[in-house]
Amino acid sequence: MISLNRVSKIYPVSKEVVVPAVRDVSLHVERGEFVVITGRSGSGKTTLLNLVAGLTRPTSGQVLLDNIEVWKLPDKEQSLLRNQKIGFVFQFASLLPTLTAVENVMLPKMFGGEQNQERVYERATQLLEQVGLADKFKSFPRQLSGGQQQRVVIARALMNEPELLLADEPTSDLDEATEHEIMELFRGIHTETGVTALLVTHSIDLASYGTRSIQMAEGEIVSP
Ligand SMILES: Nc1ncnc2c1ncn2[C@@H]1O[C@H](COP(=O)(O)OP(=O)(O)OP(=O)(O)O)[C@@H](O)[C@H]1O
Ligand SMILES: [Mg+2]
Repeated sequence: MISLNRVSKIYPVSKEVVVPAVRDVSLHVERGEFVVITGRSGSGKTTLLNLVAGLTRPTSGQVLLDNIEVWKLPDKEQSLLRNQKIGFVFQFASLLPTLTAVENVMLPKMFGGEQNQERVYERATQLLEQVGLADKFKSFPRQLSGGQQQRVVIARALMNEPELLLADEPTSDLDEATEHEIMELFRGIHTETGVTALLVTHSIDLASYGTRSIQMAEGEIVSP
């Protein structure tokens, strides 16, 4: 499903200085895998995820999603593909503060041109139940704990039934017990839906939740 062929991402910082965030990485992920990526801060994990999502243009090399080179598509098709194929959970919880939990979960469908509000609401509440927030539909983000907010973000990422779930340190602000709960949730979702998942964490303890783990250091994959 995902093919990275000798991909590099080099950020120019000044005229003389460049940062090679990702260096000559080749990675192949089959449909249905749950890959956990670990590595120290600054090792290039977020950059790698953004490359897969088509949010960052590679400096060199090829990024393929289902044999499509996302960067070669026109803008509109690019965002359509992203909206329909990929669910994101970003490094920092990103809920809209003025919307309730259920409204936040409904958002991705509102952009997709879906007309049937009732059906969208129904699906959003189902997802919130699935992530253990049956009693929090009407809560605003500020009324939720960090772990609960992250669950809403995960429900939102699943709204469009993505084929690919990308999660960047979804547990970074959470205590250890909650961290494991969230990872259990990802594992459950993966088992139930068969979604292909790529999850970044700096905690090596969490690597075993996936079906495969890889490690990054200084922009490179150091263990396959
Ligand atoms: N937009 C940018 N411009 C310049 N340098 C960047 C940019 N984004 C990332 N970098 C650099 O690229 C390297 C990799 O960054 P990246 O965010 O991918 O690391 P990370 O592994 O996700 O780290 P963390 O665990 O702290 O989130 C770092 O040295 C960072 O400073
Ligand atoms: Mg990061």
